[in-house]
Amino acid sequence: MDEVTRQKATPNEVDRALAHLDPDAGRPSNVVDVRSLSLQFGAKTVISDVTIPFERGTITALIGPTGSGKSTFLRTLNRMNDRVVGFRHEGEVLLDNESIWSSSQDLLSLRRRVGMLFQRPNPFPMSIKDNVVAGVKAHGIAKGRELDVVAETRLREVGLWNAVKDRLNDSPYRLSGGQQQLLCLARALAVGPEVLLLDEPTSALDPLSTEAVENLLRTLVPALTLIVVTHNLGQARRVSDRTMFFYEGRLVEHGPTPALFESPRDPDTARYVNGLMG
Ligand SMILES: Nc1ncnc2c1ncn2[C@@H]1O[C@H](COP(=O)(O)OP(=O)(O)OP(=O)(O)O)[C@@H](O)[C@H]1O
Ligand SMILES: [Mg+2]
Repeated sequence: MDEVTRQKATPNEVDRALAHLDPDAGRPSNVVDVRSLSLQFGAKTVISDVTIPFERGTITALIGPTGSGKSTFLRTLNRMNDRVVGFRHEGEVLLDNESIWSSSQDLLSLRRRVGMLFQRPNPFPMSIKDNVVAGVKAHGIAKGRELDVVAETRLREVGLWNAVKDRLNDSPYRLSGGQQQLLCLARALAVGPEVLLLDEPTSALDPLSTEAVENLLRTLVPALTLIVVTHNLGQARRVSDRTMFFYEGRLVEHGPTPALFESPRDPDTARYVNGLMG
């Protein structure tokens, strides 16, 4: 037996060696795993017994009529409801197999790993550049000159760099609504989240800005996992891999986006995706 043959690695050894190269190796394929989750505000049950995995590196759209619990569900995933008076949860939300409510989970690092973009752009009252690096500074991820690099990288990533490079120290409030939303997205991305929650991120934007945001979302996967609430069914079809349909707090149906829209199994889903239910 020659030297090369004798040293040939077994398949297990190859897997172990590759595990060092693949950052996702050994991690669960579902980055977020929701199990038997029920959510209440006071006596009112807003989400009933939802079990759903979110596969790493995918975009999931949450659709359903107004008041069906989409925002409540989404906001729970990074514990935004915890401080709402009367809010209660039953069941579990696992992030990489660990409960988001476990005592070893600190809220700041949870929010760094699970970022959020809101319906209305909410730039902070500080310069454009400081907006992008606000979270990076707060988490101590970068400092000094590194912050300039972070700001430029993230502004380029969201396609804003050319529009703002000569006014980085100006207020963000003179930017258009679409540009402000892209700035908020740059700020959210700057801290390197694993999951991004988006609640109707384009409903306040014009069609061109909406298209810019939608195109950008597709470029963020598979590095990130996105969960997007939208009333825009065309948007759900264009950007998402999977869709979940909520109705009156229940997860009625979920599946690959084309299947859910083209051949829904549930009559309520069919009525909703065909525009027969508001
Ligand atoms: N902070 C709160 N306190 C009490 N009830 C709340 C609170 N937030 C939401 N609710 C109630 O929970 C239910 C679901 O609201 P939620 O905002 O999650 O719905 P949604 O599907 O996001 O609706 P929309 O499409 O209109 O945004 C509603 O009946 C709402 O009144
Ligand atoms: Mg909502």
